[in-house]
Amino acid sequence: MHGTVTPQLDDILKAKGDTSWFTRDRLGMFIHWGLYSLPGRHEWVQHNEKIAPADYRERYFGRFDPDLYDPELWAKAAAGAGMKYVVATAKHHEGFCLWDSKLTDYTAVHSPARRDLIRPLVEAFRGHGLRTGLYYSLLDWHHPHYRIDPHIGPLREHPDREALNRGRDQGTYAAYMRGQVSELLTGYGDIDVMWFDFSYPKPDGSGKGKDDWESDRLLETVRTLRPSVILDDRLDVPYGWDIKTPEQFQPRSGVVVDGKPVVWEACQTFSGSWGYHRDESSWKSVEQIVRMLVDTVSKDGNLLLNVGPTSRGEFDRRAIERLEGLGAWMRRHGRSIYGCGPAPAGLNAPQDCRYTYDAERNRLYLHLFTWPFRHIELHGLRDRVAYAQLLDDGSEIPFKGLDDWEVKELPHLRDLLQLSLPVEKPPVTVPVIELFLK
Ligand code: GLC
Repeated sequence: MHGTVTPQLDDILKAKGDTSWFTRDRLGMFIHWGLYSLPGRHEWVQHNEKIAPADYRERYFGRFDPDLYDPELWAKAAAGAGMKYVVATAKHHEGFCLWDSKLTDYTAVHSPARRDLIRPLVEAFRGHGLRTGLYYSLLDWHHPHYRIDPHIGPLREHPDREALNRGRDQGTYAAYMRGQVSELLTGYGDIDVMWFDFSYPKPDGSGKGKDDWESDRLLETVRTLRPSVILDDRLDVPYGWDIKTPEQFQPRSGVVVDGKPVVWEACQTFSGSWGYHRDESSWKSVEQIVRMLVDTVSKDGNLLLNVGPTSRGEFDRRAIERLEGLGAWMRRHGRSIYGCGPAPAGLNAPQDCRYTYDAERNRLYLHLFTWPFRHIELHGLRDRVAYAQLLDDGSEIPFKGLDDWEVKELPHLRDLLQLSLPVEKPPVTVPVIELFLK
């Protein structure tokens, strides 16, 4: 395909968005909201339970009435948790659109909600100083031209699948996507992130990927309308993306592509599913969440933490508890997160610890996942630290290198720095020691 593109188009396809703010801000909120909040048993419920599009529409679309929706409260909760950006689902796989799209009637405006739900959301979050991003599903289980494949979707095993596909034209659907994305990128102010989800190409062509989405044309639409927007990596093309997006797991180290470290964002749920799930009980604790964030930044990544609001338009109370816990930690420890990345080369954190590093201020942050008894030893830091303090309360932490006689006996520990910690663990989720490097 590339032989045929003009050099100018080639530039557009290979262009990069602006990630300079992104790698500083580090922490964002994902929001998965749609009709699936009514069944409240996974955002894939339509696929899982093979609910035909007409039935799904009839059961949920006509009953979507988020009477308690107040995006101001959502934005406050996100800002209070220390989040700096938001990525909200404008459309998920079910095909329902939360904004006032002119290209379908399957929108919030035509549901009992009777209004555009995205506009007040981006306005509220911007009002709290957060950047805004939109998630847009490439999959669409409602659009009449979306081809039904044997892998994903409510009709995947329908006996008349091929008959149902007659008259469906995937190209019409791809054009619909470009039209919708144009609406989102032109009607809602400066969108900072466009998050496309997802591709599942198969060797025999039975899945869906770049040809089904017409990824190049979609990229061209996006980059032309908004060159600085950050794009994720799920369009099934090896170019055009700005961030890698490991989902529901923490990579063992920074993410590397073709031997080079790349910008990345881990997306994680509080529990198992992304949409509101009433009966799920696998919720992570505040401590696990704080550790996840610290672990991510120590590997040079961002964390996008997901909330699935209820069909009445509120955050799940279990999510609110966790956001508050995270916020309490962030208020005192944000300094070890914002603007930070991995430790300088050669510095490895002790067991059960993570380093982050603020290169601009030359400060190293030691996060302790378990609290040791009185002392902790740091390799490679002897003579490199000017001052140390507990970040929580700004209280001094004494330190020293080994005495000369000790070095004589234990020469391999020459570069060790020993910190003297209080016996009692400070009353915070994850204690942090701020080291002012020389
Ligand atoms: C997925 C799922 C989905 C979720 C997304 C977030 O691929 O299909 O439901 O929106 O990941 O990363």
